[in-house]
Amino acid sequence: MNRQLMASMLSDRQIEDLINKALEARETSYCPYSQFRVGSALRTVDGKIFQGCNIENAAYGGAICAERTAFVKAISDGYRRFVAIAVACDYNHFITPCGICRQFMNEFGKNLEIFFVNDDRSYRRAVLEDLLPYAFGPENGPLK
Ligand code: THU
Repeated sequence: MNRQLMASMLSDRQIEDLINKALEARETSYCPYSQFRVGSALRTVDGKIFQGCNIENAAYGGAICAERTAFVKAISDGYRRFVAIAVACDYNHFITPCGICRQFMNEFGKNLEIFFVNDDRSYRRAVLEDLLPYAFGPENGPLK
């Protein structure tokens, strides 16, 4: 079943909060090369929220996306279980996570809800499994 059709685990208020935090996180973006600011907000199962922004590098390949920044912060603080992430960029369109971020996030649960936030705060929602079908994940690798 396409999970986009299923209801969110979050209340409207929790979604709004996550969206606000993703928009706020955009402000700290370090993107002198692309000028493309991205912010994210990641919610753990116990309701803690980690914010992230994209951080670029003079050696372009060293850039890290806003989604992975939030995950890295959360995981290095000991959190492993997440319910949702919101992502916002500066442009008037819905941004969806890049392939590397999809794979990175999949490590910690394919049921993650992802909110793509537009500048006017409208959003679309998807579930990671629908963005990365037939994924290679922990259940396929050496941990299985
Ligand atoms: N970027 C993100 O942070 N998240 C995405 O979902 C897509 C792209 C960043 C990477 C780079 O710093 C800039 O946006 C342009 O690609």
